[in-house]
Amino acid sequence: MSELSRFVRIPSLKTIDDFRRHISALGLDLPCEDSIVTGASSPLAQPLDFFVNHKRIGNRFAVQPMEGWDGTATGGITDEVLRRWRRFGESGAKLIFGGEAMAVRPDGRANPNQLIISDANKSDLAKLREILLNAHRERYANTEDLVLGFQLTHSGRFCKPNDKFRLEPRVAYRHPILDRRFNITSDAQVWTDSEINYLIEDYVRAAKVAWDVGADFVDIKHCHGYLLHEFLSAFSRPGPYGGSFENRTRILRDIVSAIRASGNQIELAVRLSAFDLVPFKPDPALSNPGKPGPGVPEDFSHCLPYRYGFGVNHNNPLECALSEAFQFLDLCVGLGIKIVNITAGSPYYNPHIQRPAAYPPSDGYQPPEDPLVGVARQIQAVRQLRAKAPKSLLLIGSAYSYLQEYLPHVAQYIVRHNWADLVGLGRMTLAYPNMLADAIATGALSTRLLCRTFSDCTTGPRNGLVSGCYPLDPFYATKPEAQLLKEIKRRKPSL
Ligand SMILES: Cc1cc2nc3c(=O)[nH]c(=O)nc-3n(C[C@H](O)[C@H](O)[C@H](O)COP(=O)(O)O)c2cc1C
Ligand code: SF4
Repeated sequence: MSELSRFVRIPSLKTIDDFRRHISALGLDLPCEDSIVTGASSPLAQPLDFFVNHKRIGNRFAVQPMEGWDGTATGGITDEVLRRWRRFGESGAKLIFGGEAMAVRPDGRANPNQLIISDANKSDLAKLREILLNAHRERYANTEDLVLGFQLTHSGRFCKPNDKFRLEPRVAYRHPILDRRFNITSDAQVWTDSEINYLIEDYVRAAKVAWDVGADFVDIKHCHGYLLHEFLSAFSRPGPYGGSFENRTRILRDIVSAIRASGNQIELAVRLSAFDLVPFKPDPALSNPGKPGPGVPEDFSHCLPYRYGFGVNHNNPLECALSEAFQFLDLCVGLGIKIVNITAGSPYYNPHIQRPAAYPPSDGYQPPEDPLVGVARQIQAVRQLRAKAPKSLLLIGSAYSYLQEYLPHVAQYIVRHNWADLVGLGRMTLAYPNMLADAIATGALSTRLLCRTFSDCTTGPRNGLVSGCYPLDPFYATKPEAQLLKEIKRRKPSL
Protein backbone atom coordinates (compact mmCIF):
# COMPACT_ATOMS: atom_id res chain seq x y z
CA MET A 1 0.00 0.00 0.00
CA SER A 2 1.38 3.41 -0.95
CA GLU A 3 2.51 5.77 1.79
CA LEU A 4 0.23 8.32 0.18
CA SER A 5 -2.83 6.40 1.26
CA ARG A 6 -2.06 7.55 4.80
CA PHE A 7 -3.46 10.89 3.64
CA VAL A 8 -6.87 11.81 2.37
CA ARG A 9 -6.66 12.81 -1.29
CA ILE A 10 -8.23 16.11 -2.30
CA PRO A 11 -10.30 14.66 -5.19
CA SER A 12 -11.98 12.33 -2.70
CA LEU A 13 -13.41 15.37 -0.90
CA LYS A 14 -16.55 15.86 -2.92
CA THR A 15 -17.92 19.04 -1.38
CA ILE A 16 -16.63 22.15 0.31
CA ASP A 17 -18.03 20.77 3.58
CA ASP A 18 -15.95 17.60 3.14
CA PHE A 19 -12.92 19.81 2.57
CA ARG A 20 -13.70 21.87 5.69
CA ARG A 21 -14.18 18.72 7.78
CA HIS A 22 -10.83 17.40 6.60
CA ILE A 23 -9.08 20.70 7.39
CA SER A 24 -10.63 20.68 10.82
CA ALA A 25 -9.60 17.04 11.43
CA LEU A 26 -6.03 18.09 10.64
CA GLY A 27 -6.34 20.94 13.14
CA LEU A 28 -5.38 23.55 10.54
CA ASP A 29 -6.33 27.20 10.33
CA LEU A 30 -7.03 27.19 6.58
CA PRO A 31 -10.30 28.99 5.89
CA CYS A 32 -12.18 28.97 2.62
CA GLU A 33 -15.30 30.48 1.08
CA ASP A 34 -18.42 28.44 0.32
CA SER A 35 -18.39 28.84 -3.43
CA ILE A 36 -16.52 30.36 -6.34
CA VAL A 37 -17.56 33.97 -6.89
CA THR A 38 -17.87 34.92 -10.53
CA GLY A 39 -17.48 38.16 -12.46
CA ALA A 40 -16.49 41.58 -11.25
CA SER A 41 -17.46 40.85 -7.65
CA SER A 42 -14.88 38.08 -7.27
CA PRO A 43 -12.28 39.11 -4.70
CA LEU A 44 -9.70 37.69 -7.09
CA ALA A 45 -10.81 40.04 -9.89
CA GLN A 46 -10.28 43.22 -7.89
CA PRO A 47 -7.54 45.54 -9.07
CA LEU A 48 -4.98 46.42 -6.45
CA ASP A 49 -4.51 49.95 -5.31
CA PHE A 50 -0.84 49.50 -6.07
CA PHE A 51 1.32 50.68 -8.97
CA VAL A 52 4.47 49.11 -10.33
CA ASN A 53 6.23 51.02 -13.10
CA HIS A 54 3.14 53.29 -13.28
CA LYS A 55 0.84 50.31 -13.88
CA ARG A 56 -1.97 49.43 -11.54
CA ILE A 57 -2.00 45.65 -11.03
CA GLY A 58 -5.34 44.51 -12.46
CA ASN A 59 -6.24 41.53 -10.27
CA ARG A 60 -5.18 39.48 -7.28
CA PHE A 61 -3.43 36.45 -8.72
CA ALA A 62 0.11 36.04 -9.98
CA VAL A 63 2.09 33.52 -12.00
CA GLN A 64 5.04 32.24 -10.01
CA PRO A 65 8.45 31.85 -11.62
CA MET A 66 9.04 28.41 -13.12
CA GLU A 67 12.01 27.41 -15.18
CA GLY A 68 11.79 24.73 -17.82
CA TRP A 69 15.38 23.50 -18.28
CA ASP A 70 14.76 24.10 -21.98
CA GLY A 71 16.74 27.15 -23.14
CA THR A 72 19.61 26.98 -25.64
CA ALA A 73 23.13 26.12 -24.54
CA THR A 74 23.92 29.85 -24.54
CA GLY A 75 20.93 30.72 -22.37
CA GLY A 76 18.65 31.87 -25.18
CA ILE A 77 15.04 30.95 -25.79
CA THR A 78 13.52 27.98 -27.62
CA ASP A 79 10.01 27.28 -28.87
CA GLU A 80 9.27 25.52 -25.56
CA VAL A 81 10.24 28.61 -23.57
CA LEU A 82 8.11 30.80 -25.84
CA ARG A 83 5.16 28.48 -25.44
CA ARG A 84 5.44 28.58 -21.64
CA TRP A 85 5.53 32.39 -21.59
CA ARG A 86 2.59 32.56 -23.99
CA ARG A 87 0.61 30.40 -21.58
CA PHE A 88 1.68 32.66 -18.69
CA GLY A 89 0.13 35.53 -20.67
CA GLU A 90 -3.03 33.52 -21.31
CA SER A 91 -3.41 32.76 -17.61
CA GLY A 92 -5.20 36.03 -16.94
CA ALA A 93 -2.88 36.82 -14.01
CA LYS A 94 -2.06 40.51 -13.89
CA LEU A 95 1.29 39.96 -12.22
CA ILE A 96 3.90 37.75 -13.82
CA PHE A 97 6.38 37.45 -11.02
CA GLY A 98 9.71 36.71 -12.63
CA GLY A 99 8.72 34.30 -15.40
CA GLU A 100 11.54 31.96 -14.55
CA ALA A 101 14.92 32.11 -12.88
CA MET A 102 17.46 33.69 -15.24
CA ALA A 103 21.14 33.35 -14.43
CA VAL A 104 23.07 36.60 -14.08
CA ARG A 105 26.20 34.83 -15.36
CA PRO A 106 26.81 31.57 -17.23
CA ASP A 107 28.52 29.74 -14.36
CA GLY A 108 25.58 30.59 -12.07
CA ARG A 109 23.15 28.38 -14.00
CA ALA A 110 21.33 25.57 -12.22
CA ASN A 111 21.36 23.61 -15.47
CA PRO A 112 23.07 24.03 -18.85
CA ASN A 113 19.77 25.09 -20.43
CA GLN A 114 18.76 27.81 -17.99
CA LEU A 115 18.13 31.24 -19.50
CA ILE A 116 20.97 33.74 -19.09
CA ILE A 117 20.07 37.39 -18.77
CA SER A 118 22.82 38.99 -20.85
CA ASP A 119 23.27 41.54 -23.63
CA ALA A 120 23.67 38.68 -26.09
CA ASN A 121 20.22 37.36 -25.18
CA LYS A 122 18.43 40.71 -25.14
CA SER A 123 16.40 40.18 -28.29
CA ASP A 124 15.33 36.73 -27.06
CA LEU A 125 14.12 38.16 -23.76
CA ALA A 126 12.29 40.93 -25.62
CA LYS A 127 10.50 38.21 -27.61
CA LEU A 128 9.41 36.50 -24.40
CA ARG A 129 7.92 39.72 -23.13
CA GLU A 130 6.22 40.38 -26.44
CA ILE A 131 4.67 36.93 -26.79
CA LEU A 132 3.36 37.10 -23.23
CA LEU A 133 1.84 40.56 -23.70
CA ASN A 134 0.32 39.64 -27.08
CA ALA A 135 -1.24 36.47 -25.69
CA HIS A 136 -2.67 38.41 -22.78
CA ARG A 137 -4.00 41.17 -25.03
CA GLU A 138 -5.69 38.67 -27.36
CA ARG A 139 -7.64 37.11 -24.50
CA TYR A 140 -8.15 39.92 -22.05
CA ALA A 141 -7.84 43.03 -24.28
CA ASN A 142 -5.89 45.11 -21.81
CA THR A 143 -2.21 44.98 -20.89
CA GLU A 144 -2.08 48.38 -19.20
CA ASP A 145 -2.74 46.62 -15.89
CA LEU A 146 -0.35 43.71 -16.46
CA VAL A 147 2.97 43.85 -14.61
CA LEU A 148 5.89 41.67 -15.65
CA GLY A 149 9.25 41.12 -14.01
CA PHE A 150 12.31 38.94 -14.55
CA GLN A 151 13.81 36.79 -11.82
CA LEU A 152 17.58 37.21 -11.43
CA THR A 153 19.54 34.38 -9.88
CA HIS A 154 22.84 32.74 -9.16
CA SER A 155 22.36 29.10 -8.26
CA GLY A 156 25.22 28.88 -5.75
CA ARG A 157 25.17 25.47 -4.10
CA PHE A 158 23.08 23.98 -6.92
CA CYS A 159 25.06 25.18 -9.97
CA LYS A 160 25.25 22.73 -12.87
CA PRO A 161 26.22 25.14 -15.65
CA ASN A 162 27.92 22.71 -18.04
CA ASP A 163 26.54 19.25 -17.52
CA LYS A 164 23.05 18.29 -16.34
CA PHE A 165 24.52 15.76 -13.95
CA ARG A 166 27.66 17.55 -12.72
CA LEU A 167 27.50 19.96 -9.80
CA GLU A 168 29.87 22.92 -9.88
CA PRO A 169 28.80 24.59 -6.65
CA ARG A 170 29.98 27.92 -5.27
CA VAL A 171 28.74 28.58 -1.76
CA ALA A 172 28.48 31.35 0.82
CA TYR A 173 29.75 29.14 3.66
CA ARG A 174 30.48 25.53 4.53
CA HIS A 175 27.35 23.66 5.63
CA PRO A 176 27.62 20.72 8.04
CA ILE A 177 24.84 18.72 6.33
CA LEU A 178 24.40 20.02 2.79
CA ASP A 179 28.08 19.99 1.80
CA ARG A 180 28.19 16.23 1.45
CA ARG A 181 25.00 16.18 -0.58
CA PHE A 182 26.14 18.80 -3.04
CA ASN A 183 29.78 17.96 -3.55
CA ILE A 184 31.34 20.75 -1.52
CA THR A 185 34.68 19.47 -0.38
CA SER A 186 36.94 22.51 -0.24
CA ASP A 187 37.01 26.07 1.08
CA ALA A 188 38.01 27.09 -2.44
CA GLN A 189 34.32 26.64 -3.34
CA VAL A 190 33.36 29.45 -0.93
CA TRP A 191 32.96 32.92 -2.47
CA THR A 192 35.68 35.34 -1.42
CA ASP A 193 34.69 38.87 -0.45
CA SER A 194 36.43 40.30 -3.52
CA GLU A 195 34.63 37.89 -5.88
CA ILE A 196 31.36 39.23 -4.50
CA ASN A 197 32.15 42.63 -6.04
CA TYR A 198 32.03 41.00 -9.50
CA LEU A 199 28.80 39.25 -8.63
CA ILE A 200 27.21 42.57 -7.73
CA GLU A 201 28.23 43.94 -11.14
CA ASP A 202 26.58 40.92 -12.77
CA TYR A 203 23.30 41.82 -11.07
CA VAL A 204 23.63 45.43 -12.22
CA ARG A 205 24.23 44.31 -15.82
CA ALA A 206 21.28 41.92 -15.65
CA ALA A 207 18.96 44.62 -14.27
CA LYS A 208 20.00 46.89 -17.16
CA VAL A 209 19.11 44.18 -19.68
CA ALA A 210 15.73 43.75 -17.99
CA TRP A 211 15.09 47.50 -18.15
CA ASP A 212 16.20 47.73 -21.78
CA VAL A 213 13.81 44.96 -22.88
CA GLY A 214 10.86 46.51 -21.04
CA ALA A 215 10.47 44.44 -17.87
CA ASP A 216 8.61 46.36 -15.16
CA PHE A 217 10.75 44.99 -12.32
CA VAL A 218 13.50 42.58 -11.43
CA ASP A 219 13.28 40.04 -8.63
CA ILE A 220 16.57 39.74 -6.77
CA LYS A 221 15.92 36.15 -5.83
CA HIS A 222 16.58 35.19 -2.19
CA CYS A 223 14.97 31.78 -1.90
CA HIS A 224 15.15 27.99 -2.16
CA GLY A 225 18.79 27.64 -1.08
CA TYR A 226 20.21 29.49 -4.08
CA LEU A 227 23.12 31.83 -3.53
CA LEU A 228 21.57 35.01 -2.15
CA HIS A 229 19.23 33.01 0.06
CA GLU A 230 22.25 31.15 1.36
CA PHE A 231 23.92 34.43 2.29
CA LEU A 232 20.96 35.21 4.57
CA SER A 233 22.02 32.28 6.76
CA ALA A 234 25.78 32.90 6.58
CA PHE A 235 25.98 33.20 10.37
CA SER A 236 29.28 31.32 10.41
CA ARG A 237 30.93 33.30 7.59
CA PRO A 238 33.58 35.75 8.76
CA GLY A 239 33.93 39.24 7.29
CA PRO A 240 31.51 41.80 5.87
CA TYR A 241 29.05 39.29 4.35
CA GLY A 242 28.52 37.00 7.33
CA GLY A 243 27.52 36.98 10.97
CA SER A 244 25.14 39.80 11.88
CA PHE A 245 21.82 40.45 10.11
CA GLU A 246 23.37 43.60 8.68
CA ASN A 247 26.25 41.63 7.19
CA ARG A 248 24.10 38.76 5.90
CA THR A 249 21.93 41.25 4.00
CA ARG A 250 24.82 43.35 2.75
CA ILE A 251 24.75 41.81 -0.72
CA LEU A 252 21.15 42.84 -1.21
CA ARG A 253 21.90 46.37 -0.06
CA ASP A 254 24.99 46.52 -2.30
CA ILE A 255 23.09 45.22 -5.33
CA VAL A 256 20.25 47.69 -4.86
CA SER A 257 22.54 50.66 -4.41
CA ALA A 258 24.70 49.62 -7.37
CA ILE A 259 21.61 49.28 -9.60
CA ARG A 260 20.45 52.74 -8.53
CA ALA A 261 23.96 54.21 -8.90
CA SER A 262 23.98 52.95 -12.49
CA GLY A 263 20.96 55.18 -13.19
CA ASN A 264 18.60 52.24 -13.70
CA GLN A 265 15.14 53.09 -12.36
CA ILE A 266 13.63 49.62 -12.82
CA GLU A 267 11.34 48.62 -9.94
CA LEU A 268 12.64 46.01 -7.50
CA ALA A 269 11.23 42.87 -5.94
CA VAL A 270 12.55 39.94 -3.92
CA ARG A 271 11.41 36.36 -3.69
CA LEU A 272 12.17 35.25 -0.16
CA SER A 273 12.23 31.88 1.55
CA ALA A 274 10.90 33.40 4.75
CA PHE A 275 11.42 30.25 6.80
CA ASP A 276 13.27 27.00 6.54
CA LEU A 277 13.84 23.70 8.33
CA VAL A 278 16.78 21.32 8.40
CA PRO A 279 17.31 19.18 5.29
CA PHE A 280 15.12 16.07 5.05
CA LYS A 281 15.85 12.63 3.57
CA PRO A 282 13.85 9.42 3.02
CA ASP A 283 13.59 7.43 6.23
CA PRO A 284 16.24 4.69 5.73
CA ALA A 285 14.29 2.28 7.94
CA LEU A 286 11.22 2.54 5.71
CA SER A 287 12.93 2.81 2.31
CA ASN A 288 13.30 -0.03 -0.17
CA PRO A 289 15.27 -0.05 -3.44
CA GLY A 290 13.45 2.29 -5.81
CA LYS A 291 10.99 3.28 -3.13
CA PRO A 292 12.02 6.10 -0.80
CA GLY A 293 10.39 6.14 2.62
CA PRO A 294 8.68 9.12 4.22
CA GLY A 295 10.83 12.18 4.85
CA VAL A 296 12.68 12.46 8.11
CA PRO A 297 15.04 15.22 9.21
CA GLU A 298 18.77 14.68 8.76
CA ASP A 299 20.61 14.20 12.03
CA PHE A 300 21.46 17.69 13.26
CA SER A 301 22.61 16.77 16.76
CA HIS A 302 26.24 17.58 15.85
CA CYS A 303 25.43 21.11 14.68
CA LEU A 304 23.42 22.71 17.45
CA PRO A 305 22.77 25.57 17.84
CA TYR A 306 21.74 25.27 14.20
CA ARG A 307 23.16 28.41 12.56
CA TYR A 308 22.75 27.12 9.01
CA GLY A 309 19.33 28.29 7.92
CA PHE A 310 17.35 31.53 7.59
CA GLY A 311 14.04 31.53 9.46
CA VAL A 312 14.83 28.45 11.57
CA ASN A 313 14.77 28.15 15.33
CA HIS A 314 18.47 27.66 16.12
CA ASN A 315 17.75 25.59 19.21
CA ASN A 316 15.18 23.39 17.52
CA PRO A 317 15.63 23.48 13.74
CA LEU A 318 12.44 21.47 13.28
CA GLU A 319 10.64 24.73 14.00
CA CYS A 320 10.35 27.80 11.80
CA ALA A 321 11.12 31.27 13.16
CA LEU A 322 9.86 34.39 11.41
CA SER A 323 11.61 37.10 13.44
CA GLU A 324 14.31 37.78 10.84
CA ALA A 325 11.77 37.70 8.01
CA PHE A 326 10.00 40.66 9.67
CA GLN A 327 13.34 42.43 9.86
CA PHE A 328 14.02 41.58 6.22
CA LEU A 329 10.71 43.11 5.10
CA ASP A 330 11.55 46.31 6.98
CA LEU A 331 14.87 46.36 5.18
CA CYS A 332 13.11 45.91 1.83
CA VAL A 333 10.85 48.88 2.57
CA GLY A 334 13.90 50.98 3.41
CA LEU A 335 15.55 49.96 0.13
CA GLY A 336 12.52 50.93 -1.93
CA ILE A 337 11.73 47.32 -2.88
CA LYS A 338 8.08 47.16 -3.92
CA ILE A 339 7.12 43.47 -3.92
CA VAL A 340 8.15 40.51 -1.78
CA ASN A 341 7.04 37.08 -2.89
CA ILE A 342 7.04 34.77 0.12
CA THR A 343 8.02 31.15 -0.29
CA ALA A 344 9.83 28.69 1.99
CA GLY A 345 12.59 26.13 2.24
CA SER A 346 14.15 24.52 -0.79
CA PRO A 347 13.00 22.06 -3.46
CA TYR A 348 16.35 20.28 -3.08
CA TYR A 349 16.54 19.55 0.62
CA ASN A 350 13.03 19.92 2.09
CA PRO A 351 10.57 19.90 -0.84
CA HIS A 352 7.58 19.07 1.37
CA ILE A 353 7.68 22.55 2.89
CA GLN A 354 8.53 24.30 -0.40
CA ARG A 355 6.03 22.71 -2.80
CA PRO A 356 3.64 20.40 -0.91
CA ALA A 357 2.83 17.39 -3.08
CA ALA A 358 1.00 14.10 -2.90
CA TYR A 359 3.67 12.37 -5.00
CA PRO A 360 7.37 13.08 -4.42
CA PRO A 361 9.91 13.93 -7.11
CA SER A 362 12.38 11.14 -7.93
CA ASP A 363 15.05 12.48 -5.58
CA GLY A 364 12.56 13.24 -2.81
CA TYR A 365 10.72 11.28 -0.14
CA GLN A 366 7.15 10.34 0.64
CA PRO A 367 5.28 13.20 2.32
CA PRO A 368 6.08 13.23 6.04
CA GLU A 369 2.88 15.17 6.74
CA ASP A 370 -0.41 15.78 5.00
CA PRO A 371 0.57 18.20 2.20
CA LEU A 372 -2.18 20.54 3.43
CA VAL A 373 -0.06 21.11 6.52
CA GLY A 374 2.64 22.51 4.22
CA VAL A 375 0.12 24.69 2.39
CA ALA A 376 -1.23 26.08 5.68
CA ARG A 377 2.29 26.68 7.03
CA GLN A 378 3.07 29.01 4.13
CA ILE A 379 -0.34 30.71 4.22
CA GLN A 380 -0.05 31.41 7.95
CA ALA A 381 3.48 32.76 7.58
CA VAL A 382 2.36 35.22 4.90
CA ARG A 383 -0.63 36.17 7.03
CA GLN A 384 1.66 37.08 9.93
CA LEU A 385 4.05 38.98 7.70
CA ARG A 386 1.20 40.82 5.97
CA ALA A 387 -0.27 41.86 9.32
CA LYS A 388 2.92 43.69 10.28
CA ALA A 389 4.50 44.84 7.02
CA PRO A 390 3.77 48.36 5.73
CA LYS A 391 1.18 48.62 2.99
CA SER A 392 3.82 50.12 0.72
CA LEU A 393 5.11 46.56 0.30
CA LEU A 394 3.11 44.12 -1.78
CA LEU A 395 3.18 40.53 -0.48
CA ILE A 396 2.50 37.46 -2.59
CA GLY A 397 1.77 34.03 -1.11
CA SER A 398 2.95 30.72 -2.56
CA ALA A 399 2.23 26.97 -2.47
CA TYR A 400 -1.46 26.98 -3.35
CA SER A 401 -1.45 24.33 -6.08
CA TYR A 402 -1.98 21.36 -3.77
CA LEU A 403 -5.42 22.80 -2.90
CA GLN A 404 -6.67 21.65 -6.32
CA GLU A 405 -10.53 21.90 -6.48
CA TYR A 406 -10.57 24.17 -3.43
CA LEU A 407 -7.86 26.55 -4.53
CA PRO A 408 -10.31 29.29 -5.62
CA HIS A 409 -12.29 29.00 -2.37
CA VAL A 410 -9.17 29.41 -0.23
CA ALA A 411 -7.66 32.07 -2.50
CA GLN A 412 -10.83 34.18 -2.35
CA TYR A 413 -10.74 34.10 1.44
CA ILE A 414 -7.05 35.00 1.55
CA VAL A 415 -7.31 38.11 -0.59
CA ARG A 416 -10.69 39.20 0.80
CA HIS A 417 -9.24 39.16 4.32
CA ASN A 418 -5.87 40.62 3.34
CA TRP A 419 -3.89 37.60 4.44
CA ALA A 420 -1.87 38.24 1.27
CA ASP A 421 -2.16 40.86 -1.46
CA LEU A 422 -1.98 38.31 -4.23
CA VAL A 423 -1.99 34.54 -4.46
CA GLY A 424 0.73 33.11 -6.66
CA LEU A 425 0.23 29.94 -8.68
CA GLY A 426 3.12 27.73 -9.70
CA ARG A 427 2.44 24.14 -10.79
CA MET A 428 -1.24 24.84 -11.38
CA THR A 429 -0.18 27.30 -14.07
CA LEU A 430 1.74 24.56 -15.90
CA ALA A 431 -1.22 22.18 -15.81
CA TYR A 432 -4.12 24.61 -16.16
CA PRO A 433 -2.79 28.09 -16.94
CA ASN A 434 -6.10 29.95 -16.81
CA MET A 435 -7.53 28.12 -13.81
CA LEU A 436 -8.47 31.22 -11.81
CA ALA A 437 -9.58 33.18 -14.88
CA ASP A 438 -11.84 30.24 -15.70
CA ALA A 439 -13.16 30.11 -12.14
CA ILE A 440 -13.96 33.82 -12.19
CA ALA A 441 -15.58 33.61 -15.64
CA THR A 442 -17.68 30.47 -15.14
CA GLY A 443 -17.75 29.59 -11.45
CA ALA A 444 -16.52 26.12 -12.37
CA LEU A 445 -13.25 24.34 -13.09
CA SER A 446 -12.16 21.81 -15.69
CA THR A 447 -11.26 19.17 -13.14
CA ARG A 448 -9.39 17.03 -15.70
CA LEU A 449 -6.85 19.88 -16.03
CA LEU A 450 -6.15 20.30 -12.32
CA CYS A 451 -2.57 19.77 -11.19
CA ARG A 452 -2.59 16.69 -8.95
CA THR A 453 0.98 17.31 -7.72
CA PHE A 454 2.43 14.28 -9.49
CA SER A 455 5.82 16.08 -9.47
CA ASP A 456 6.71 15.03 -13.03
CA CYS A 457 7.61 18.65 -13.77
CA THR A 458 10.35 18.25 -11.12
CA THR A 459 11.23 14.58 -11.70
CA GLY A 460 11.84 15.32 -15.41
CA PRO A 461 14.62 17.87 -14.86
CA ARG A 462 16.09 15.92 -11.94
CA ASN A 463 16.70 13.19 -14.52
CA GLY A 464 18.06 15.43 -17.25
CA LEU A 465 14.78 16.03 -19.14
CA VAL A 466 12.97 19.28 -19.86
CA SER A 467 10.30 20.29 -17.36
CA GLY A 468 6.62 20.36 -18.22
CA CYS A 469 3.33 18.92 -17.14
CA TYR A 470 3.77 15.46 -18.68
CA PRO A 471 0.60 13.95 -17.23
CA LEU A 472 -1.85 16.68 -18.21
CA ASP A 473 -0.43 18.84 -20.98
CA PRO A 474 -0.66 17.02 -24.35
CA PHE A 475 2.30 19.02 -25.63
CA TYR A 476 4.54 17.14 -23.17
CA ALA A 477 2.56 13.91 -23.02
CA THR A 478 3.37 13.29 -26.69
CA LYS A 479 7.08 14.09 -26.46
CA PRO A 480 9.67 11.29 -26.50
CA GLU A 481 10.72 12.55 -23.05
CA ALA A 482 7.34 11.42 -21.69
CA GLN A 483 8.28 7.84 -22.57
CA LEU A 484 11.69 8.22 -20.95
CA LEU A 485 10.07 9.61 -17.83
CA LYS A 486 7.74 6.61 -17.68
CA GLU A 487 10.76 4.31 -17.83
CA ILE A 488 12.49 6.25 -15.06
CA LYS A 489 9.38 5.97 -12.92
CA ARG A 490 9.03 2.28 -13.71
CA ARG A 491 12.50 1.80 -12.22
CA LYS A 492 11.33 3.80 -9.18
CA PRO A 493 7.83 2.43 -8.70
CA SER A 494 6.88 4.65 -5.78
CA LEU A 495 6.78 7.76 -7.98
C1 LIG B 1 9.02 22.99 -12.52
C2 LIG B 1 9.18 24.07 -11.50
C3 LIG B 1 10.11 25.08 -11.71
C4 LIG B 1 10.27 26.09 -10.75
N1 LIG B 1 11.15 27.09 -11.00
C5 LIG B 1 11.24 28.13 -10.11
C6 LIG B 1 12.05 29.25 -10.41
O1 LIG B 1 12.67 29.35 -11.48
N2 LIG B 1 12.11 30.24 -9.48
C7 LIG B 1 11.41 30.20 -8.30
O2 LIG B 1 11.50 31.13 -7.50
N3 LIG B 1 10.61 29.14 -8.02
C8 LIG B 1 10.50 28.13 -8.90
N4 LIG B 1 9.64 27.10 -8.64
C9 LIG B 1 8.78 27.14 -7.41
C10 LIG B 1 7.41 27.73 -7.73
O3 LIG B 1 7.53 29.08 -8.11
C11 LIG B 1 6.46 27.64 -6.52
O4 LIG B 1 7.00 28.33 -5.42
C12 LIG B 1 6.20 26.20 -6.09
O5 LIG B 1 5.91 25.38 -7.19
C13 LIG B 1 5.04 26.14 -5.07
O6 LIG B 1 3.88 26.73 -5.61
P1 LIG B 1 2.69 25.84 -6.22
O7 LIG B 1 2.15 25.07 -5.08
O8 LIG B 1 1.71 26.83 -6.78
O9 LIG B 1 3.30 24.98 -7.26
C14 LIG B 1 9.48 26.08 -9.57
C15 LIG B 1 8.54 25.06 -9.38
C16 LIG B 1 8.39 24.07 -10.33
C17 LIG B 1 7.35 23.01 -10.10
S1 SF4 C 1 3.64 17.47 -13.66
FE1 SF4 C 1 1.69 18.55 -13.91
S2 SF4 C 1 0.29 17.57 -12.48
FE2 SF4 C 1 2.37 17.00 -11.90
S3 SF4 C 1 3.00 18.51 -10.38
FE3 SF4 C 1 3.73 19.24 -12.31
S4 SF4 C 1 2.12 20.58 -13.06
FE4 SF4 C 1 1.22 19.33 -11.45
